[in-house]
Amino acid sequence: MGRKLLFEHIDKPGIRGLEGYRANGGYRSVEKALKTMSPEAVLEEVKKSGLRGRGGAGFPTGLKWSFLAKPEGVPRYLVVNADESEPGTFKDRYLMERIPHILIEGMITSSFALGAKVSYIYIRGEYFYVARILEQAVAEALAAGWLGKNILGSGFDHEIHVQVGAGAYICGEETALLESLEGKRGNPRIKPPFPAVKGLYDCPTVVNNVETIAAVVPIVNDGGEEYAKIGIGKSTGTKLISAGGNIKRPGVYEIDLGITCDEFINSDEFCGGVEGRAFKAVVPGGSSVPIVPYELFLKTPAGENRLMTYESLADGGFAQGTMLGSGGFYAYNDAQCIVRSTWNHTRFYHHESCGQCSPCREGTGWMEKVLHRLEHGEGRTEDIDLLWDIQRKIEGNTICPLGDAAAWPVASAIRHFRDEFEYHVHHRQKVKDPKHFEKEPFALSRKFATA
Ligand SMILES: Cc1cc2nc3c(=O)[nH]c(=O)nc-3n(C[C@H](O)[C@H](O)[C@H](O)COP(=O)(O)O)c2cc1C
Ligand code: SF4
Repeated sequence: MGRKLLFEHIDKPGIRGLEGYRANGGYRSVEKALKTMSPEAVLEEVKKSGLRGRGGAGFPTGLKWSFLAKPEGVPRYLVVNADESEPGTFKDRYLMERIPHILIEGMITSSFALGAKVSYIYIRGEYFYVARILEQAVAEALAAGWLGKNILGSGFDHEIHVQVGAGAYICGEETALLESLEGKRGNPRIKPPFPAVKGLYDCPTVVNNVETIAAVVPIVNDGGEEYAKIGIGKSTGTKLISAGGNIKRPGVYEIDLGITCDEFINSDEFCGGVEGRAFKAVVPGGSSVPIVPYELFLKTPAGENRLMTYESLADGGFAQGTMLGSGGFYAYNDAQCIVRSTWNHTRFYHHESCGQCSPCREGTGWMEKVLHRLEHGEGRTEDIDLLWDIQRKIEGNTICPLGDAAAWPVASAIRHFRDEFEYHVHHRQKVKDPKHFEKEPFALSRKFATA
């Protein structure tokens, strides 16, 4: 059983409110930081912890904070990314819904380190009820003196605002988020300049994921070195994984980075294995990361046990590896159709493309059309190469990574499950029945995947 840093008290009665949270040691990191530490010392602990951004890219948090420009007389901002629209990802919602004060606490401590007097939580429109929970937590913290002027007599002032988005996946991309927060259409900006130099209202800004900022609480409480003892190599600490699909025990789990993938998917502490059938494929980090056959999820190309870390999941590159991403984990059993799932993902990316770049705007639509006809028994053999060609022309040729995120699921599905795409061309009548693979599980692709 691993250590729980964020979820330790999550099931305690009354933990959502300030009183219950305080009774379980809440706001200790604010007391420690504001009364006994300098902002630089807090930053140092975050650097020592090895914490990497939990929003998907895994960028080292301490390093990002150290890039923050500090010109005289210009405000700095912390913006918490609670957009969480990546299909398969629902960890931040669970954390904010159950224990909102851990985020507020992390924001105060982090803002102290960054010298930010104002911070924002940008939360997706569909999480409206969670925004209400956060607003309540902010009001409680303000009334109790954890927010406002001269917090704990330290001279540090801080205010937090909760901003609800209109519900667009692209507003999770940090620069689109900033545009939206400024009241404009959420179109990604061209980088550089990066937000650390020119962010919200053109001022230096740090954008971090909800889980990243919550992790600052145990880091400051116990010290960065203690945090870095959990995990392996550059994957330190714990990670929230939202698990779904064809597993016995869907839910949100806090894992020690470094447990084996086998333990995560098969043990009763976590996913509990598959119900009644065999696993076929896994997407470990949200819909943007490459899908891998089950066998490749369990073992690296060298035949070693694969671990739930940034490095091990990526071992083998895109040809044979995948990514930890946002921790939006889902597994497919052998009754699932990979073509159907890929079509579904592509519909999403086409719908969510902001339309600024032609390869993304047009390419996602073309891929959707081709996948639609393959899935509906109207595909042609050359469609598979056409799909491959389109995704290649999107990848790396766009303003923001949504283009890549749309390309990678298609590329990996063809790479590992090409025979399933071919089956759709050669068995047009059969694949018109969306439940076809329930009756005739797709044995071919499992053979192909391990070859
Ligand atoms: C299309 C797109 C959607 C994204 N959605 C989210 C999101 O919902 N939440 C999030 O934290 N990061 C999201 N990101 C990543 C952010 O741009 C940014 O890297 C992240 O918020 C930084 O925080 P971190 O360093 O704590 O991970 C998204 C990126 C892209 C390209
Ligand atoms: S890649 Fe897509 S979503 Fe990103 S800026 Fe270009 S068109 Fe918009």
